[in-house]
Amino acid sequence: MPVHSDAFKQGLRRWVSGVTVVTARAGDEMHGMTVSAFSSVSADPPLVLVCANRGSRTHRIIREGGLFAVNILASDQQAVSNTFASSADEDRRLELVPWHPGQTGVPMVDGALANLECRVVSAYDEGSHTIYIGDVIAAELRDADPLIYYGGSYRDLR
Ligand SMILES: Cc1cc2nc3c(=O)[nH]c(=O)nc-3n(C[C@H](O)[C@H](O)[C@H](O)COP(=O)(O)O)c2cc1C
Repeated sequence: MPVHSDAFKQGLRRWVSGVTVVTARAGDEMHGMTVSAFSSVSADPPLVLVCANRGSRTHRIIREGGLFAVNILASDQQAVSNTFASSADEDRRLELVPWHPGQTGVPMVDGALANLECRVVSAYDEGSHTIYIGDVIAAELRDADPLIYYGGSYRDLR
Protein backbone atom coordinates (compact mmCIF):
# COMPACT_ATOMS: atom_id res chain seq x y z
CA MET A 1 0.00 0.00 0.00
CA PRO A 2 1.49 3.40 -0.94
CA VAL A 3 2.28 6.02 1.71
CA HIS A 4 -0.50 8.53 2.46
CA SER A 5 -0.06 11.57 0.21
CA ASP A 6 0.05 13.99 3.20
CA ALA A 7 2.90 12.04 4.79
CA PHE A 8 4.67 11.93 1.43
CA LYS A 9 4.37 15.72 0.99
CA GLN A 10 5.35 16.45 4.60
CA GLY A 11 8.35 14.15 4.29
CA LEU A 12 9.57 15.93 1.17
CA ARG A 13 9.12 19.35 2.80
CA ARG A 14 11.89 18.28 5.17
CA TRP A 15 14.39 18.08 2.28
CA VAL A 16 16.57 21.17 1.71
CA SER A 17 17.17 22.02 -1.93
CA GLY A 18 18.49 24.79 -4.09
CA VAL A 19 16.27 26.40 -6.70
CA THR A 20 16.87 26.27 -10.44
CA VAL A 21 15.15 27.59 -13.51
CA VAL A 22 15.23 24.97 -16.25
CA THR A 23 15.06 26.61 -19.67
CA ALA A 24 14.52 24.84 -22.97
CA ARG A 25 14.53 25.54 -26.69
CA ALA A 26 12.95 23.74 -29.64
CA GLY A 27 13.43 25.66 -32.89
CA ASP A 28 12.12 29.19 -32.32
CA GLU A 29 10.19 28.23 -29.18
CA MET A 30 11.87 28.98 -25.84
CA HIS A 31 10.48 28.62 -22.36
CA GLY A 32 11.42 27.70 -18.80
CA MET A 33 10.11 26.83 -15.35
CA THR A 34 11.28 26.73 -11.75
CA VAL A 35 12.62 23.31 -10.77
CA SER A 36 13.93 21.99 -7.47
CA ALA A 37 14.15 18.36 -8.65
CA PHE A 38 17.71 18.62 -9.93
CA SER A 39 20.71 16.43 -9.18
CA SER A 40 24.19 15.60 -10.28
CA VAL A 41 24.36 12.12 -11.84
CA SER A 42 27.95 11.57 -12.94
CA ALA A 43 31.22 13.55 -13.19
CA ASP A 44 32.77 11.54 -16.04
CA PRO A 45 30.88 11.90 -18.28
CA PRO A 46 29.35 15.07 -16.80
CA LEU A 47 25.65 14.24 -16.40
CA VAL A 48 22.81 15.87 -14.47
CA LEU A 49 19.10 15.14 -14.13
CA VAL A 50 15.94 17.18 -13.82
CA CYS A 51 12.39 15.94 -13.21
CA ALA A 52 9.71 17.71 -15.26
CA ASN A 53 5.97 17.32 -14.87
CA ARG A 54 4.61 15.99 -18.17
CA GLY A 55 1.78 18.54 -17.93
CA SER A 56 4.29 21.39 -18.15
CA ARG A 57 5.08 23.29 -21.30
CA THR A 58 8.78 23.11 -20.43
CA HIS A 59 8.59 19.30 -20.51
CA ARG A 60 7.17 19.39 -24.05
CA ILE A 61 9.87 21.75 -25.28
CA ILE A 62 12.67 19.67 -23.73
CA ARG A 63 11.19 16.58 -25.38
CA GLU A 64 10.90 18.29 -28.79
CA GLY A 65 14.25 20.10 -28.78
CA GLY A 66 16.44 17.73 -26.79
CA LEU A 67 18.10 20.71 -25.07
CA PHE A 68 17.84 22.34 -21.67
CA ALA A 69 19.83 24.56 -19.34
CA VAL A 70 19.87 24.38 -15.55
CA ASN A 71 20.18 27.89 -14.12
CA ILE A 72 21.07 27.61 -10.42
CA LEU A 73 19.55 30.68 -8.77
CA ALA A 74 21.35 33.09 -6.45
CA SER A 75 19.88 34.34 -3.17
CA ASP A 76 18.77 37.61 -4.82
CA GLN A 77 16.74 35.76 -7.51
CA GLN A 78 13.61 34.85 -5.53
CA ALA A 79 11.54 36.99 -7.92
CA VAL A 80 13.00 35.04 -10.86
CA SER A 81 11.90 31.79 -9.22
CA ASN A 82 8.39 33.16 -8.70
CA THR A 83 8.17 34.40 -12.29
CA PHE A 84 9.10 30.98 -13.68
CA ALA A 85 6.71 29.12 -11.36
CA SER A 86 3.67 31.34 -11.87
CA SER A 87 0.98 31.06 -14.52
CA ALA A 88 0.38 34.86 -14.36
CA ASP A 89 2.90 35.80 -17.06
CA GLU A 90 3.48 32.32 -18.40
CA ASP A 91 3.97 33.42 -22.02
CA ARG A 92 6.23 36.35 -21.09
CA ARG A 93 8.62 34.79 -18.59
CA LEU A 94 11.64 35.25 -20.83
CA GLU A 95 10.66 38.88 -21.50
CA LEU A 96 10.64 39.63 -17.76
CA VAL A 97 14.07 38.24 -16.90
CA PRO A 98 17.42 39.07 -18.51
CA TRP A 99 19.09 36.16 -20.31
CA HIS A 100 21.50 35.41 -23.11
CA PRO A 101 21.71 32.47 -25.50
CA GLY A 102 24.09 29.59 -24.79
CA GLN A 103 26.07 27.72 -27.47
CA THR A 104 22.93 25.89 -28.60
CA GLY A 105 20.68 28.94 -28.33
CA VAL A 106 19.03 27.72 -25.13
CA PRO A 107 18.33 30.65 -22.75
CA MET A 108 20.89 31.18 -19.96
CA VAL A 109 19.42 33.27 -17.12
CA ASP A 110 21.67 36.22 -16.21
CA GLY A 111 22.82 36.49 -12.60
CA ALA A 112 22.55 32.76 -11.86
CA LEU A 113 25.24 31.01 -9.82
CA ALA A 114 25.70 28.53 -12.64
CA ASN A 115 24.22 28.02 -16.10
CA LEU A 116 24.64 24.38 -17.13
CA GLU A 117 23.85 23.84 -20.81
CA CYS A 118 22.74 20.28 -21.53
CA ARG A 119 21.84 17.93 -24.36
CA VAL A 120 19.32 15.24 -23.44
CA VAL A 121 20.90 11.78 -23.50
CA SER A 122 17.98 9.85 -22.02
CA ALA A 123 14.50 10.33 -20.63
CA TYR A 124 12.46 8.12 -18.29
CA ASP A 125 8.74 8.56 -17.72
CA GLU A 126 7.87 7.80 -14.09
CA GLY A 127 4.53 8.67 -12.51
CA SER A 128 3.51 12.21 -13.43
CA HIS A 129 7.05 13.30 -14.32
CA THR A 130 9.82 12.62 -16.82
CA ILE A 131 13.41 12.32 -15.61
CA TYR A 132 15.67 13.97 -18.17
CA ILE A 133 19.34 13.08 -18.06
CA GLY A 134 21.48 15.75 -19.70
CA ASP A 135 25.08 15.74 -20.89
CA VAL A 136 26.55 19.07 -19.69
CA ILE A 137 28.22 20.64 -22.72
CA ALA A 138 29.01 24.08 -21.25
CA ALA A 139 29.00 25.82 -17.87
CA GLU A 140 29.03 29.50 -16.93
CA LEU A 141 29.80 30.22 -13.28
CA ARG A 142 29.41 33.15 -10.88
CA ASP A 143 30.27 33.45 -7.19
CA ALA A 144 27.33 34.40 -4.94
CA ASP A 145 25.11 32.87 -2.26
CA PRO A 146 22.50 30.32 -3.38
CA LEU A 147 18.71 30.57 -3.13
CA ILE A 148 17.47 27.81 -0.82
CA TYR A 149 14.04 26.17 -0.59
CA TYR A 150 12.90 24.41 2.58
CA GLY A 151 9.51 23.68 4.14
CA GLY A 152 7.70 25.42 1.28
CA SER A 153 9.61 28.72 1.76
CA TYR A 154 12.67 30.40 0.38
CA ARG A 155 15.62 30.58 2.77
CA ASP A 156 18.98 32.23 2.87
CA LEU A 157 22.25 30.64 3.97
CA ARG A 158 22.93 33.56 6.32
C1 LIG B 1 10.30 26.01 -5.57
C2 LIG B 1 9.59 25.31 -6.73
C3 LIG B 1 10.11 24.13 -7.23
C4 LIG B 1 9.49 23.48 -8.30
N1 LIG B 1 10.06 22.32 -8.77
C5 LIG B 1 9.50 21.70 -9.84
C6 LIG B 1 10.12 20.52 -10.37
O1 LIG B 1 11.15 20.05 -9.87
N2 LIG B 1 9.55 19.93 -11.47
C7 LIG B 1 8.41 20.43 -12.03
O2 LIG B 1 7.92 19.84 -13.02
N3 LIG B 1 7.78 21.55 -11.55
C8 LIG B 1 8.32 22.19 -10.48
N4 LIG B 1 7.74 23.34 -9.98
C9 LIG B 1 6.49 23.83 -10.59
C10 LIG B 1 6.70 24.57 -11.93
O3 LIG B 1 7.70 25.58 -11.81
C11 LIG B 1 5.38 25.26 -12.37
O4 LIG B 1 4.36 24.30 -12.42
C12 LIG B 1 5.49 25.97 -13.70
O5 LIG B 1 4.43 26.93 -13.79
C13 LIG B 1 5.43 25.08 -14.93
O6 LIG B 1 5.58 25.92 -16.06
P1 LIG B 1 5.23 25.53 -17.57
O7 LIG B 1 4.04 24.60 -17.58
O8 LIG B 1 4.91 26.86 -18.24
O9 LIG B 1 6.45 24.89 -18.16
C14 LIG B 1 8.33 24.02 -8.90
C15 LIG B 1 7.79 25.21 -8.40
C16 LIG B 1 8.42 25.86 -7.32
C17 LIG B 1 7.85 27.16 -6.79
